[in-house]
Amino acid sequence: MPQEKTGETRPFSSSKLSVLRKHPYFCDLDPEAFDQLCRYAKHSTLKRGTTIVSKGDPGNSLIAVISGTVKISVSSVDGRSAILNLIGQGEIFGEMSVLDGQPRSADAIANTNCEIFTIDRREFLPFVRSQPALAMKFIELLCARLRWTSDQVEQVILQNLPGRLASALIRLTEKHKQEPKGRTIAVTQQEISEMVGMTRESINKQLRAWAAREWVRLEHGAIVVLNVEMLRELVEAGGEDS
Ligand code: CMP
Repeated sequence: MPQEKTGETRPFSSSKLSVLRKHPYFCDLDPEAFDQLCRYAKHSTLKRGTTIVSKGDPGNSLIAVISGTVKISVSSVDGRSAILNLIGQGEIFGEMSVLDGQPRSADAIANTNCEIFTIDRREFLPFVRSQPALAMKFIELLCARLRWTSDQVEQVILQNLPGRLASALIRLTEKHKQEPKGRTIAVTQQEISEMVGMTRESINKQLRAWAAREWVRLEHGAIVVLNVEMLRELVEAGGEDS
Protein backbone atom coordinates (compact mmCIF):
# COMPACT_ATOMS: atom_id res chain seq x y z
CA MET A 1 0.00 0.00 0.00
CA PRO A 2 1.64 3.33 -1.02
CA GLN A 3 2.44 5.63 1.86
CA GLU A 4 1.17 9.18 1.75
CA LYS A 5 3.96 11.56 0.90
CA THR A 6 4.08 13.81 3.89
CA GLY A 7 7.48 15.32 4.73
CA GLU A 8 9.48 14.87 7.86
CA THR A 9 7.24 14.35 10.89
CA ARG A 10 8.28 16.07 14.14
CA PRO A 11 6.81 17.00 17.52
CA PHE A 12 4.99 20.35 17.32
CA SER A 13 4.71 23.42 19.52
CA SER A 14 1.38 24.28 21.10
CA SER A 15 1.20 27.54 19.11
CA LYS A 16 0.51 25.47 15.99
CA LEU A 17 -2.57 24.11 17.69
CA SER A 18 -4.23 27.52 17.76
CA VAL A 19 -4.70 27.32 13.98
CA LEU A 20 -6.67 24.11 14.46
CA ARG A 21 -8.46 25.46 17.53
CA LYS A 22 -9.74 28.50 15.62
CA HIS A 23 -11.00 26.36 12.76
CA PRO A 24 -14.80 26.57 12.53
CA TYR A 25 -14.94 22.76 12.64
CA PHE A 26 -12.94 22.42 15.82
CA CYS A 27 -13.66 25.60 17.79
CA ASP A 28 -16.80 24.13 19.41
CA LEU A 29 -15.15 20.90 20.58
CA ASP A 30 -14.89 20.71 24.35
CA PRO A 31 -11.29 21.05 25.61
CA GLU A 32 -10.91 17.35 26.40
CA ALA A 33 -12.04 16.25 22.95
CA PHE A 34 -9.79 18.87 21.34
CA ASP A 35 -6.80 17.61 23.37
CA GLN A 36 -7.55 14.10 22.23
CA LEU A 37 -7.66 15.22 18.59
CA CYS A 38 -4.30 16.98 19.05
CA ARG A 39 -2.73 13.81 20.35
CA TYR A 40 -3.58 12.22 17.01
CA ALA A 41 -2.15 15.08 14.91
CA LYS A 42 1.32 14.73 13.37
CA HIS A 43 3.10 17.88 12.28
CA SER A 44 5.12 18.00 9.03
CA THR A 45 6.91 20.69 7.06
CA LEU A 46 6.90 20.37 3.30
CA LYS A 47 8.84 22.03 0.51
CA ARG A 48 6.96 23.73 -2.31
CA GLY A 49 6.14 21.18 -5.00
CA THR A 50 5.89 18.18 -2.65
CA THR A 51 3.09 15.80 -3.57
CA ILE A 52 1.03 15.25 -0.42
CA VAL A 53 -1.54 12.88 -1.87
CA SER A 54 -1.97 11.47 -5.38
CA LYS A 55 -5.25 10.70 -7.09
CA GLY A 56 -5.97 6.98 -6.68
CA ASP A 57 -3.98 6.54 -3.45
CA PRO A 58 -5.77 5.06 -0.46
CA GLY A 59 -7.08 7.78 1.84
CA ASN A 60 -5.13 7.12 5.01
CA SER A 61 -5.33 10.53 6.62
CA LEU A 62 -7.09 13.85 7.00
CA ILE A 63 -4.85 16.88 6.47
CA ALA A 64 -5.09 20.40 7.97
CA VAL A 65 -3.01 23.24 6.53
CA ILE A 66 -1.22 25.20 9.29
CA SER A 67 0.63 27.54 6.94
CA GLY A 68 1.05 27.89 3.19
CA THR A 69 -1.19 26.84 0.32
CA VAL A 70 -1.99 23.43 -1.13
CA LYS A 71 -3.15 22.99 -4.71
CA ILE A 72 -5.87 20.43 -5.38
CA SER A 73 -5.61 19.40 -9.03
CA VAL A 74 -6.14 16.66 -11.57
CA SER A 75 -4.06 16.06 -14.69
CA SER A 76 -4.48 14.36 -18.05
CA VAL A 77 -2.10 11.80 -19.61
CA ASP A 78 -0.87 14.47 -22.05
CA GLY A 79 0.32 16.63 -19.13
CA ARG A 80 -2.47 19.23 -18.93
CA SER A 81 -3.75 19.99 -15.47
CA ALA A 82 -6.83 21.57 -13.96
CA ILE A 83 -6.81 23.19 -10.54
CA LEU A 84 -9.95 22.34 -8.58
CA ASN A 85 -9.16 24.43 -5.52
CA LEU A 86 -6.47 26.13 -3.48
CA ILE A 87 -6.52 25.18 0.20
CA GLY A 88 -5.08 27.79 2.55
CA GLN A 89 -4.12 28.19 6.19
CA GLY A 90 -6.67 26.75 8.61
CA GLU A 91 -8.44 24.69 5.93
CA ILE A 92 -8.76 20.93 5.69
CA PHE A 93 -8.56 18.49 2.82
CA GLY A 94 -8.44 14.74 2.28
CA GLU A 95 -11.77 14.26 4.05
CA MET A 96 -13.49 12.60 1.09
CA SER A 97 -11.60 9.32 1.02
CA VAL A 98 -11.16 9.33 4.79
CA LEU A 99 -14.95 9.38 5.12
CA ASP A 100 -16.02 7.14 2.24
CA GLY A 101 -13.06 4.72 2.10
CA GLN A 102 -12.63 5.27 -1.67
CA PRO A 103 -9.29 6.23 -3.29
CA ARG A 104 -8.11 9.88 -3.30
CA SER A 105 -10.20 11.91 -5.76
CA ALA A 106 -7.45 14.38 -6.76
CA ASP A 107 -3.78 15.26 -6.29
CA ALA A 108 -2.76 17.61 -3.48
CA ILE A 109 0.56 19.40 -3.99
CA ALA A 110 2.26 21.97 -1.76
CA ASN A 111 1.93 25.21 -3.74
CA THR A 112 4.26 27.03 -1.33
CA ASN A 113 6.37 25.73 1.53
CA CYS A 114 3.76 24.37 3.92
CA GLU A 115 3.20 23.13 7.44
CA ILE A 116 0.49 20.56 7.87
CA PHE A 117 -1.10 18.33 10.47
CA THR A 118 -2.14 14.85 9.45
CA ILE A 119 -4.59 12.76 11.42
CA ASP A 120 -4.70 9.05 10.73
CA ARG A 121 -8.01 7.70 9.41
CA ARG A 122 -7.94 4.86 11.96
CA GLU A 123 -7.96 7.44 14.75
CA PHE A 124 -10.15 10.05 13.10
CA LEU A 125 -13.12 7.82 12.24
CA PRO A 126 -13.82 6.56 15.79
CA PHE A 127 -13.26 10.11 17.03
CA VAL A 128 -15.79 11.65 14.62
CA ARG A 129 -18.30 8.93 15.52
CA SER A 130 -18.02 9.98 19.15
CA GLN A 131 -18.56 13.68 18.27
CA PRO A 132 -21.89 14.12 16.40
CA ALA A 133 -21.44 17.92 16.22
CA LEU A 134 -18.13 17.40 14.44
CA ALA A 135 -19.76 14.93 12.04
CA MET A 136 -22.30 17.66 11.15
CA LYS A 137 -19.45 20.09 10.45
CA PHE A 138 -17.95 17.59 8.03
CA ILE A 139 -21.30 17.28 6.27
CA GLU A 140 -21.22 21.07 5.90
CA LEU A 141 -17.70 20.84 4.48
CA LEU A 142 -18.83 18.30 1.87
CA CYS A 143 -21.80 20.53 0.96
CA ALA A 144 -19.39 23.46 0.53
CA ARG A 145 -17.19 21.33 -1.77
CA LEU A 146 -20.22 20.39 -3.86
CA ARG A 147 -21.39 24.01 -4.10
CA TRP A 148 -17.89 25.10 -5.15
CA THR A 149 -17.76 22.41 -7.82
CA SER A 150 -21.31 23.10 -9.08
CA ASP A 151 -20.40 26.75 -9.41
CA GLN A 152 -17.29 25.83 -11.42
CA VAL A 153 -19.29 23.55 -13.74
CA GLU A 154 -21.95 26.25 -14.20
CA GLN A 155 -19.32 28.82 -15.13
CA VAL A 156 -17.52 26.52 -17.57
CA ILE A 157 -20.74 25.62 -19.38
CA LEU A 158 -22.64 28.89 -19.26
CA GLN A 159 -20.09 31.71 -19.18
CA ASN A 160 -17.58 33.15 -21.64
CA LEU A 161 -14.01 33.97 -20.59
CA PRO A 162 -14.72 37.27 -18.78
CA GLY A 163 -17.60 35.64 -16.88
CA ARG A 164 -15.56 32.58 -15.92
CA LEU A 165 -12.60 34.65 -14.82
CA ALA A 166 -14.74 37.10 -12.85
CA SER A 167 -16.54 34.23 -11.18
CA ALA A 168 -13.26 32.51 -10.22
CA LEU A 169 -11.93 35.76 -8.70
CA ILE A 170 -15.16 36.26 -6.72
CA ARG A 171 -15.02 32.68 -5.38
CA LEU A 172 -11.41 33.10 -4.32
CA THR A 173 -12.02 36.47 -2.61
CA GLU A 174 -15.08 35.03 -0.81
CA LYS A 175 -12.80 32.42 0.75
CA HIS A 176 -10.42 35.06 2.05
CA LYS A 177 -12.82 37.84 3.01
CA GLN A 178 -12.35 37.36 6.78
CA GLU A 179 -8.61 37.89 6.47
CA PRO A 180 -6.89 41.29 6.85
CA LYS A 181 -5.54 41.20 3.29
CA GLY A 182 -9.07 40.13 2.28
CA ARG A 183 -9.19 40.86 -1.41
CA THR A 184 -5.60 39.89 -2.25
CA ILE A 185 -5.51 36.48 -3.88
CA ALA A 186 -2.12 34.81 -3.85
CA VAL A 187 -2.45 33.13 -7.22
CA THR A 188 -0.43 33.30 -10.43
CA GLN A 189 -2.00 33.88 -13.83
CA GLN A 190 -0.89 30.36 -14.83
CA GLU A 191 -2.84 28.96 -11.86
CA ILE A 192 -5.91 31.03 -12.75
CA SER A 193 -5.69 29.70 -16.30
CA GLU A 194 -5.67 26.12 -14.94
CA MET A 195 -8.71 26.96 -12.83
CA VAL A 196 -10.88 28.43 -15.56
CA GLY A 197 -9.58 26.34 -18.49
CA MET A 198 -8.32 29.23 -20.66
CA THR A 199 -4.83 30.09 -21.90
CA ARG A 200 -2.56 32.21 -19.72
CA GLU A 201 -2.30 34.75 -22.55
CA SER A 202 -6.05 35.33 -22.74
CA ILE A 203 -6.26 35.52 -18.94
CA ASN A 204 -3.47 38.10 -18.92
CA LYS A 205 -5.17 40.19 -21.62
CA GLN A 206 -8.47 40.23 -19.72
CA LEU A 207 -6.83 41.02 -16.39
CA ARG A 208 -4.90 43.92 -17.92
CA ALA A 209 -8.15 45.31 -19.35
CA TRP A 210 -9.72 45.16 -15.85
CA ALA A 211 -6.59 46.64 -14.28
CA ALA A 212 -6.96 49.63 -16.65
CA ARG A 213 -10.52 50.07 -15.28
CA GLU A 214 -9.22 49.67 -11.72
CA TRP A 215 -11.36 46.60 -11.05
CA VAL A 216 -8.20 44.66 -10.14
CA ARG A 217 -4.54 45.36 -9.44
CA LEU A 218 -1.92 42.92 -10.68
CA GLU A 219 0.95 42.14 -8.33
CA HIS A 220 3.80 39.66 -8.57
CA GLY A 221 2.18 36.28 -7.82
CA ALA A 222 -1.08 37.89 -6.67
CA ILE A 223 -4.24 39.62 -7.86
CA VAL A 224 -5.93 42.29 -5.74
CA VAL A 225 -9.66 42.60 -6.38
CA LEU A 226 -10.54 46.31 -6.12
CA ASN A 227 -14.12 46.29 -7.40
CA VAL A 228 -15.91 43.04 -6.67
CA GLU A 229 -19.32 44.63 -7.43
CA MET A 230 -18.39 45.25 -11.09
CA LEU A 231 -17.15 41.66 -11.39
CA ARG A 232 -20.47 40.45 -9.93
CA GLU A 233 -22.45 42.57 -12.39
CA LEU A 234 -20.43 41.10 -15.22
CA VAL A 235 -21.18 37.54 -14.08
CA GLU A 236 -24.88 38.35 -13.73
CA ALA A 237 -24.87 39.72 -17.28
CA GLY A 238 -23.52 36.33 -18.47
CA GLY A 239 -20.00 37.69 -18.91
CA GLU A 240 -21.07 40.38 -21.37
CA ASP A 241 -19.53 43.81 -20.84
CA SER A 242 -22.03 46.66 -20.51
P1 CMP B 1 -9.67 13.12 -1.00
O1 CMP B 1 -10.41 12.58 -2.15
O2 CMP B 1 -9.49 12.29 0.18
O3 CMP B 1 -8.22 13.60 -1.51
C1 CMP B 1 -8.16 14.73 -2.40
C2 CMP B 1 -8.86 15.87 -1.75
O4 CMP B 1 -8.99 17.02 -2.53
C3 CMP B 1 -10.33 15.52 -1.45
O5 CMP B 1 -10.37 14.50 -0.51
C4 CMP B 1 -10.88 16.85 -1.08
O6 CMP B 1 -10.49 17.21 0.23
C5 CMP B 1 -10.15 17.71 -2.10
N1 CMP B 1 -11.00 17.91 -3.30
C6 CMP B 1 -11.30 17.02 -4.24
N2 CMP B 1 -12.09 17.56 -5.18
C7 CMP B 1 -12.29 18.81 -4.83
C8 CMP B 1 -13.01 19.88 -5.40
N3 CMP B 1 -13.66 19.76 -6.56
N4 CMP B 1 -13.01 21.04 -4.75
C9 CMP B 1 -12.34 21.16 -3.59
N5 CMP B 1 -11.62 20.20 -3.01
C10 CMP B 1 -11.60 19.03 -3.61
